[in-house]
Amino acid sequence: MILKPGLIAMQTALMALTVALSGFASATPAEDREAMRAYYQKRFPAVEVNAHQDGVYAFDQNAREQWLELEDFPPYEVAVDEGEELYNSPLANGASYSDCFGDGAVKNRYPHFDEGRGEVVTLELAINDCREAHGSDPLSYKSAEMVRLSAYIAWQSRGQIIAMEEPESAGALAAYNEGKRFYTTRRGQLNFACTSCHVQLAGNRLRAEHLSASLGHVSHWPAYRLKWQDVGSLHRRFARCNEQVGAEPFPRQSPEYRNLEYFLTYISNGLTWNGPAIRK
Ligand code: HEC
Repeated sequence: MILKPGLIAMQTALMALTVALSGFASATPAEDREAMRAYYQKRFPAVEVNAHQDGVYAFDQNAREQWLELEDFPPYEVAVDEGEELYNSPLANGASYSDCFGDGAVKNRYPHFDEGRGEVVTLELAINDCREAHGSDPLSYKSAEMVRLSAYIAWQSRGQIIAMEEPESAGALAAYNEGKRFYTTRRGQLNFACTSCHVQLAGNRLRAEHLSASLGHVSHWPAYRLKWQDVGSLHRRFARCNEQVGAEPFPRQSPEYRNLEYFLTYISNGLTWNGPAIRK
């Protein structure tokens, strides 16, 4: 891969920046969240911290206007409708998803650390657990069906405040710290960490796009990306950001990406579940 000029310029800018979040490596989850909120408040003094739930549209006024226009006829609507139909269709033994998730407004249950299993359980894992409990085969995490079911559940949960329980047990803390380490570890040919772009360089432009703040990264999935011409999952976006710096992506719902989601969700506590969304 040949380094694109925009990225070389960013690398130079990055080297000139001092470590943005000192003491971050050894902090508790509550301290991390406070440090992140304080950092973005200082970096974007005109933006209310929770407004980062709208990604770049929190501070890019032109892009925000185009985005609001798209919201008049949201392209994710079909996926929500199809998701609703799937949600209410019988599973192999005649039960339906409502037997597992009630009315579907359950985003705040996920992700959580399951002590018995010793791993982070995301909504997608829980959807497959529900299927298997009722005699149906699990879905591929790449399938259209999975993303549509999660679009319906995001829709049903819209407006609730993100309130993930603070990781406290040894297992939960280990998963959280793995996610945090993933987020701050440099990788790929460009040797960029997630924090390089979304913390240190947040608000800067990378070619045509501004870089969003980490705080709003989990609130709005699945999202309809104009580039994808479809709704896609948070883990698909993670993979894209890994590839962007020349690093190997991980499979959707791999332990790495689930731990990452767990970390990002906790620091986003206080923002609103606002999926599905539209993004470029
Ligand atoms: C080279 C810079 C760069 C790096 C490094 C990077 N990203 Fe991104 N990321 C982008 C760009 C550009 C976008 C699209 C504009 C935006 O929303 O920030 C984006 C978007 C995102 C979004 C969607 C934001 C939204 O509002 O929908 C998520 C989530 C995300 N990145 C997560 C990550 C994670 C996790 C990592 C580390 C594995 C990472 N990114 C590393 C450049 C980067």
